[in-house]
Amino acid sequence: MTIQNKLGISDSFKLAQAEERISKQKAMELFESGRLDKLDAGTFESLSEIHKFLFEDIYDFAGEIRTVNIAKGNFRFAPVMYLAEALKNIDKMPQSGFEQIIEKYVEMNIAHPFREGNGRSMRIWLDLMLKKEIKKVVDWSKVDKEDYLLAMERSPIRDTEIKHVLKTALTDDINDREIYMKGIDHSYYYEGYMTYRTEDLRHL
Ligand SMILES: Nc1ncnc2c1ncn2[C@@H]1O[C@H](COP(=O)(O)OP(=O)(O)O)[C@@H](O)[C@H]1O
Ligand SMILES: [Mg+2]
Repeated sequence: MTIQNKLGISDSFKLAQAEERISKQKAMELFESGRLDKLDAGTFESLSEIHKFLFEDIYDFAGEIRTVNIAKGNFRFAPVMYLAEALKNIDKMPQSGFEQIIEKYVEMNIAHPFREGNGRSMRIWLDLMLKKEIKKVVDWSKVDKEDYLLAMERSPIRDTEIKHVLKTALTDDINDREIYMKGIDHSYYYEGYMTYRTEDLRHL
């Protein structure tokens, strides 16, 4: 069963491909237009703007807080009933060093504000926070998919693993477009999208 979408696609394989192509082009535009750098670091507002920009051509709910409860594996993300309150509290969390920034990222993942696209939008949001606060970003091409997903699965109980996994992949090359474009490809790969390379979508 596919999620209701603006493209009128009912085949889930076709929807995944269209979603990947369109939103990767948007992710590239977000970087190259300088829009991303203009956003605030570490607020729900900026996460929502990233999500909206990536998915506005595909989903009605782009940038909007979800209205259904969701779970992954054995984990239930924040109940809809408490979501708005949780997001207000996350906004207030400090973000002045690597540890605090990852703790904020872990809390935002527990909130999981959107119906879909949380992982991909949140990794862009995390890098913006790291870039503005500590002048570093994650080189996602150095982050193994299984290590990352296992660490995220464990992060609501113990954040030491995700801190370790991401710390070893930090780079000072914060404005490097290749690191960003490859990072998008890796981020999508974690979620099973690997049909297109962001760089190749430039002229399509
Ligand atoms: N069992 C879990 N517990 C907590 N977080 C998880 C779990 N499984 C996946 N995640 C996190 O959720 C993200 C995927 O959320 P999702 O909304 O599907 O994003 P996307 O649509 O971009 O794939 C993963 O990247 C990971 O960070
Ligand atoms: Mg998903």
